Amino acid sequence: MKVKIDPERCQGHGRCYDLAPGLFGEDEEGYGQVVGDGVVPPEEEQAARLAAANCPERAIEIL
Ligand code: F3S
Repeated sequence: MKVKIDPERCQGHGRCYDLAPGLFGEDEEGYGQVVGDGVVPPEEEQAARLAAANCPERAIEIL
């Protein structure tokens, strides 16, 4: 599993890095950023799904 943020959609709501800080961080303007290469370790898969489901802009893609 891998996660991606669509920068066109992200409005900086911050749910992703609150809910899954191991997978997402924020840039200097508060927009979400994927940590590292976006590969999700098995123990973080649930957090990845939770973050994707909670992004109001549906900016998080799970691949
Ligand atoms: Fe952006 Fe959604 Fe996260 S709007 S900051 S990807 S919760």
